[in-house]
Amino acid sequence: MNIDRITPVKWENGLVKLIDQTKLPIVYENIYCKDYQAIIAAIKTMQVRGAPAIGIAGAMAVSLAAQNIAAENFDEFYNQLKIAADEISAARPTAVNLSWAVNRMIKFAQNNKNKSIEQLKKLLIKESIAIYEEDLEMSKKIGKNGAALIKDGMTILTHCNAGGLATSGYGTALAVIYTAAEQSKKIKVYADETRPLLQGSRLTAYELVENGIDTTLICDNMAGWLMSQGKIDCVIVGADRIAANGDTANKIGTYSLSILAKYHNIPMYIAAPSSTLDLSIKNGSMIPIEERSVDEVIRPFNVQIAPQNVKVFNPAFDVTPAENITAIITEKKVYFYPFVDKLNND
Ligand code: MRU
Repeated sequence: MNIDRITPVKWENGLVKLIDQTKLPIVYENIYCKDYQAIIAAIKTMQVRGAPAIGIAGAMAVSLAAQNIAAENFDEFYNQLKIAADEISAARPTAVNLSWAVNRMIKFAQNNKNKSIEQLKKLLIKESIAIYEEDLEMSKKIGKNGAALIKDGMTILTHCNAGGLATSGYGTALAVIYTAAEQSKKIKVYADETRPLLQGSRLTAYELVENGIDTTLICDNMAGWLMSQGKIDCVIVGADRIAANGDTANKIGTYSLSILAKYHNIPMYIAAPSSTLDLSIKNGSMIPIEERSVDEVIRPFNVQIAPQNVKVFNPAFDVTPAENITAIITEKKVYFYPFVDKLNND
């Protein structure tokens, strides 16, 4: 597969190169960010999106912020870096990968306070590139661990986009699919279109088709009927934040899928790197759920499809309770339900 084509964030010649995901699949266009504010804007407008990808973009935003700081000593440098870091972390609230990556960068700066400011600026760039490279490694391992659950001939349902475009280039849920295909297993994928922003039809269908995977697009409300017809063997999705007990926040609609899967006795798998685990919270009730604009529902992609004055509720994520999840696939291994005391013990 051509990972470069679906690598959403990359450090290139002192700039951060993004694929503008709001334009896919019609137009493939790169954006080049030269300051951290441009990355914050890209995260908020979802030109870059997906939990691991916004983590990488956030880390690179900290590197960019560092390059533009003029400071005489470490304390001055650190104070300015911390202001930028707090702004970057606040760009989107649900995916823990963003604050995880930004915090790692800030701690890295603290641990290297003895270096000159010029050295530290270079080291911060290296650290953000390391976050990108580690994510790619983790994606490959998630793919390998998850592919062990996929038998030849299976049909998989996925929701939203947990592919290369949502990570460093290989994916989490889609990494499992790519690896199974690389192992010559014949698999079929149903992709939910994922209203309101259509990450399933615009991004998942795009990258699966580009990579030669047998893909069928369905509207979100069709999944239950397909399951009842015996057309789905398992569900695999990504995650934005996994609490210590295994409760998992992911794209809105995942919770409903988990109930449908349970009812039809179909395994429900979550695939995510350890950077998506938030062991500081006991359960999903503590996960902040982002609410997005009314316009995404009333006027998606600038086409009015509802009366302008109707009330709208637009939560971008939901939380699937651990008991609806058959297994969580990470780069370390496959954890089967129940998860308590397992996720934090490796
Ligand atoms: O709002 P988005 O597009 O950022 O939501 C993305 C998802 O919910 C993904 O499933 C999740 O981030 C996992 S990506 C590997």
